[in-house]
Amino acid sequence: MHYNFDEIIPRASTNSVKYDLRKKIFGKEDVIPMWVADMDFATPDFIVDAVRERAKHPVFGYSFRSDDYFRSIINWQKRNHNWVIEKEWVRYSPGIVPALNFCVMAYTDPGDKIIVQPPVYFPFFSAIRNHGRVQVNNPLKLEKGRLNMDFDNLRKKAAEGAKMLFLCSPHNPGGSVWTQKELTEMVNICLDYNILIVSDEIHCDLVLPGYNHKPTATLSEAAADITITCIAPSKTFNLAGMATSSVIISNKTLQEKFDTLMEQLHVGMGNLFGAVASEAAYAKGERWLEELIAYIDGNVRFALDFFEKNIPGIKAIRPEATYMLWLDCRKMELDDEQLWKFFVEEAGVGMNKGESFGEGGEGFMRMNLACPRKTIKRALGRIKYAIDCHMNAARKK
Ligand SMILES: Cc1ncc(COP(=O)(O)O)c(C=O)c1O
Repeated sequence: MHYNFDEIIPRASTNSVKYDLRKKIFGKEDVIPMWVADMDFATPDFIVDAVRERAKHPVFGYSFRSDDYFRSIINWQKRNHNWVIEKEWVRYSPGIVPALNFCVMAYTDPGDKIIVQPPVYFPFFSAIRNHGRVQVNNPLKLEKGRLNMDFDNLRKKAAEGAKMLFLCSPHNPGGSVWTQKELTEMVNICLDYNILIVSDEIHCDLVLPGYNHKPTATLSEAAADITITCIAPSKTFNLAGMATSSVIISNKTLQEKFDTLMEQLHVGMGNLFGAVASEAAYAKGERWLEELIAYIDGNVRFALDFFEKNIPGIKAIRPEATYMLWLDCRKMELDDEQLWKFFVEEAGVGMNKGESFGEGGEGFMRMNLACPRKTIKRALGRIKYAIDCHMNAARKK
């Protein structure tokens, strides 16, 4: 291994959301933070070097994204996802959540229905509701340890007149990597009912061994025509703080609507260092990604094994992608507030509440495994100890 993912890097006092907001979020500092989706690994050297190199020039004035920047995105998608995209399709966004909001504003009107498939990344909900659109749920079904789409219900909801569907591909939380068959069925429903698809593919590079990500827009020309795809180097290379993402749109009418909105909002400039970091990541990132995935896969296996052997009261859903573990804690028979309190107060582990991911998330917790294995061992040890104490106390009652 060239990269050392075992290194513990102190992140406190760096204005890190994950570390420096612990007191605010969890009410105390002593929690192992396994919540917000960034990684405790160092951003790879070739990105840091590129940023340093640019910083040697002392003027950081207005700038634009270079041809090399676009080429790096295009080549990465071709090499890693067999998706041929053109420069004219690529739009900048300061983030994927902003991109979801832009799509809602550009392509729908107040009162329009937008379909989501919970449990799902919760800013999907606010992107709909904050603009006066109506959220329509097509809940995923947990079947044999995997979150699956409910196509019958999707068709029913689509027939009731939705304008847009937010897809999370691969899925967060739960880590389903949607197959070509699943995506085709979903796209066909959207085509039948004239529904635009916003395909959030921020986790597309973090696919675990044995699975393949299929970009929604590559299914067919018809699929591409109704799909707006959101991608970013932020999860893959730990660059969330660089605020640089892309929206890929091949349909000319949709491009124009997006451009009009971006001009109105004046948010197209972006961050000079974000562009530098993104270009370096996509131009040179394969070896890092290969090693990262091997390490995350090791973390996932370790955690799954630990839960199975030592904490039978919690069932961890085996992810096909992402570094998130979706924990089914329903056997603990605690309500969501009690669950949260238990993990924070008794175990000292800070995770995301499952209920915040919407319908179907109740009784679950989301654990971020993008950290050195030692940290996972500590956290799981704390959880096991707390659960053993909890059970002993219950037995004595
Ligand atoms: C599915 C999904 N979309 C978007 C984001 C965040 O994107 P950004 O920080 O670029 O707004 C996350 C972060 O966890 C995510 O999991």
